[in-house]
Amino acid sequence: MSIQNQTYQTIVIGSGLAGLITALECHHTGPVLLVTKTSLGEGSTRYAQGGIAVAKKIGDSIEEHLVDTIAAGAGIVNEENARILVTEADASINILQKYGVIFDSSSEGREAAHSQARVLHAGGDQTGLAITTALTNSCQNLGVTILENTLVTGLKQNNFGGEVYGIETINNENILEHYTAQSIVLATGGLGSLYSRTTNPETITGDGITLAFEVGAQLADLEFVQFHPTAFKKKGSAPFLLSETLRGEGAILRNSLGEAFMQKTHPKADLAPRDIVAREITKEMQRENSSQVWLDCTQIESKNNIELTKRFPNIFKFCKAHNIDIRTQPIPVTPAAHYHMGGVFTDKWGQTTIPNLYAVGEAAMTGVHGANRLASNSLLEAAVFGIRTAEHINTQKNIPLASSSEALEIKSLGKTSTDLKVLQQLLWSTAGIERDAISMTKGLKTIESGQAIEKLSSKKAINMYRATLTSHLILKSALSREESRGAHQRSDFPERDDLNWKRHQVVSYVK
Ligand code: FAD
Ligand code: SIN
Repeated sequence: MSIQNQTYQTIVIGSGLAGLITALECHHTGPVLLVTKTSLGEGSTRYAQGGIAVAKKIGDSIEEHLVDTIAAGAGIVNEENARILVTEADASINILQKYGVIFDSSSEGREAAHSQARVLHAGGDQTGLAITTALTNSCQNLGVTILENTLVTGLKQNNFGGEVYGIETINNENILEHYTAQSIVLATGGLGSLYSRTTNPETITGDGITLAFEVGAQLADLEFVQFHPTAFKKKGSAPFLLSETLRGEGAILRNSLGEAFMQKTHPKADLAPRDIVAREITKEMQRENSSQVWLDCTQIESKNNIELTKRFPNIFKFCKAHNIDIRTQPIPVTPAAHYHMGGVFTDKWGQTTIPNLYAVGEAAMTGVHGANRLASNSLLEAAVFGIRTAEHINTQKNIPLASSSEALEIKSLGKTSTDLKVLQQLLWSTAGIERDAISMTKGLKTIESGQAIEKLSSKKAINMYRATLTSHLILKSALSREESRGAHQRSDFPERDDLNWKRHQVVSYVK
């Protein structure tokens, strides 16, 4: 039987950790179709370096992990879901190991805002690659049906707001197809590549957000975009992250005069929360009128009993290829869009507000990260909630999450930009590390004056349409939240406003 004529129990869209683990865990109860935009396993997961947080070692506890997660989230963490995250961490690691992931036996890494060194890694700084390789092999060996180089362009539904029953796709030859299933899982990742500076691969442009939005699913907290402080800065270089675990091992941020500027800024210095470090770097760059600061790893080997070539083999190799020996030379770095705390609103079983539609991983908003994610809690969320979503699908007890009546209503769809680079610059300059009403309104006007859509008949045009629509939704959400909290910093509303804004911001499409 052809792939198309088969009946599937589950269609999973995306082949990062969230999609792969959901597909594997659903596969033993019914046929699964895994559809992915480019090659199998391409997505942010593959590039994850630091690792996956789990309170395992003596002296650490689930409670401490929970406390750190809640503190990082700046007042709006969903505590029930966060407790699930940290409590089910160990069991989810065991399941990853069952599918062949081998974690390093050397000590756990430390990252910002974790009170303990609790970050489990694999291949030194190649945790994501180790996870992706093991899970893609398992999918192939166990016979999950896989469709590569296929963009999901829409979800099938009879009535707006009603249940979904399938997907529409376009492949590299611009051939349109459709597939049906009882359950559809969005595992499309975040949206970093909507920004001109990002750590994410280019496929990650927030597709799940608009796919869900178009069928009436509620979204939430779209304004919370996390900027990682240390992305490699060199014109023309592909996005590349300098893991926070480098600072966990003692790397120091310096300005062009060699001053360790974080030490005078925050009691935790270079290991202050991510949003604070990203903002301080930006201020330092503005003060110096430069486009980078410097990450100095030169003292790590003499201070700690580690070899940089062994603990960080991939970072070492990448920098060496750019003529930097990290043992003796500082690395040019700049903040970059890294992670989306917002996404498709789900409950603790991955259910969205639309029957039969689930969302997992970075595409989902489970509320576990609040306004600012704790490092290494994202792979964990993808694993824990991917496994839970599969359990829910396998037992078929679909009762979708009740919609929130207090939603930011969006009434228009349907503009598109023609140039992705222009859109990325626009989002960086209007909804970046610091925002205000003037710049966001300008950004919105530019997008709203774009072209009306006629016919979307190529992969490129559909990608541009989705990128424009998601950017529009981020700007609308960020303009609406008139306060500063976590990763959402407004220069015109610099204070946190718990009275009005200690809550998630739900967004829905009203036709
Ligand atoms: P992804 O891994 O991004 O996968 C999304 C998938 O969806 C891709 O396969 C993509 O092609 C597919 N897709 C998207 N749209 C469509 C469409 N329309 N049709 C078909 N397919 C589609 N987190 C940690 O916890 N620890 C770390 O150490 C860490 N390091 C990181 C380092 C880097 C460089 C980056 C970028 C992120 C890092 N993160 C880390 C964050 C973490 O890696 C991601 O949040 C997580 O991997 C997301 O997994 P995911 O499965 O949800 O999405
Ligand atoms: C890093 O290694 O710095 C990234 C970790 C994360 O985003 O969780």
